[in-house]
Amino acid sequence: MDYNFSKKISGIRPSAIREILKLSSDPSVIPFSAGNPSSDSFPFEDLKRYSEEILSNTPTLALQYGVTEGYLPLRNVFKDRCKEIYGAFGENDELIVTTGAQQVFDLLTKTLCDEGDTVISEGPAFVGALTSFKSNGANVVQVDVKEDGMDIDELTKAIETSNNPRFIYCIPNFQNPTGLTTSAAKRREILEVAKKYDLMVLEDNAYADLRFSGEEVPSIKSFDTDGRVVYAGSMSKLLSPGLRVGFASGPSDVIAKMTVAKQVSDVHTAMFNQMICHMFFTKTDLTEHISKIRKIYREKAKLMLDILDKESGGTFRYTRPEGGLFIWCNLTNNSDAMDFTKEVIKEKVAIVPGNAFYADDSVVRNSFRLNFSSPTEEQITVGTEILCRTAKSYSKS
Ligand SMILES: Cc1ncc(COP(=O)(O)O)c(C=O)c1O
Repeated sequence: MDYNFSKKISGIRPSAIREILKLSSDPSVIPFSAGNPSSDSFPFEDLKRYSEEILSNTPTLALQYGVTEGYLPLRNVFKDRCKEIYGAFGENDELIVTTGAQQVFDLLTKTLCDEGDTVISEGPAFVGALTSFKSNGANVVQVDVKEDGMDIDELTKAIETSNNPRFIYCIPNFQNPTGLTTSAAKRREILEVAKKYDLMVLEDNAYADLRFSGEEVPSIKSFDTDGRVVYAGSMSKLLSPGLRVGFASGPSDVIAKMTVAKQVSDVHTAMFNQMICHMFFTKTDLTEHISKIRKIYREKAKLMLDILDKESGGTFRYTRPEGGLFIWCNLTNNSDAMDFTKEVIKEKVAIVPGNAFYADDSVVRNSFRLNFSSPTEEQITVGTEILCRTAKSYSKS
């Protein structure tokens, strides 16, 4: 039968990059390509206890339909954390629990963009967000990320030359994929530009709580005085990505429309999972848990960076993240990182070529991303040495 798929889904094609990444599911390959948190960070015993308690004490609540806005006690915890920690809840704001931060991209694009409208994003940026914008019919225009965040001249130019721009997407903390953090000054500038052109900002703080060095920087949302910023949060790195719990806080009118969009999409986020998250916040020693996760990532990042410092021999430049899960590299001889990725895979190490983080993945790029959270320490040691050795012989060829 000829299925005649919609233009929307036909526009999302499996890319050559995904074909390469399939190879990294081979268990003998060292996974520097993953985006997963370390499974050592999951509080298995706590979660087992909370699940049993929920099913023993409040089974109907956990298993029945819930409201679209989310489980009220969890919403209140998120609101409190937004007020007290993230600077992400203002006077006229509301908050909705979502099925991961991923759903925030979908709901906000549906809420703000008509077919052909533009989302201005950092470039490179989290591919899940880019695909979500595109699959909702938005046009994505990317702006270079510098050491301290988006290039403001480029941002202005992109806004002025694109079709009906609607919002600016940024990941100011330990950006995926670059690991870079946007400076406080840049955060203010981004908001000023948004104001000047009357755009919204989607601030994605999926790596909140994962700072392992340096000083906290105020959120963009904390500078927002006129209801311009929607802030996306996630439980994926703090607790577990498999629970699929995140949230959006933002102007109540926008959150109300996102709630309608969510109702159509999945009615509500799984109640059982929301209740587990709520118990985690009320019963787990959060200070201890967060410092344990930060220690895991601090040590893994240091191990990888120390080997890169010793062994990379100037064949590529790399970022030094202050948190998160990733290091971003640029081959210094400007060669094609896609070809380099294929060479590295032959040596049983998987990395992600930089193209994967651009809406147009056909452009030749010299960048690639390394993940340090998923591999074991032994895999980091062996894999980083292999990577550096391969880069040296690749740069001579
Ligand atoms: C920057 C960024 N935002 C959002 C997400 C998705 O988060 P969630 O698992 O909550 O959907 C990820 C996942 O890796 C990410 O890297």
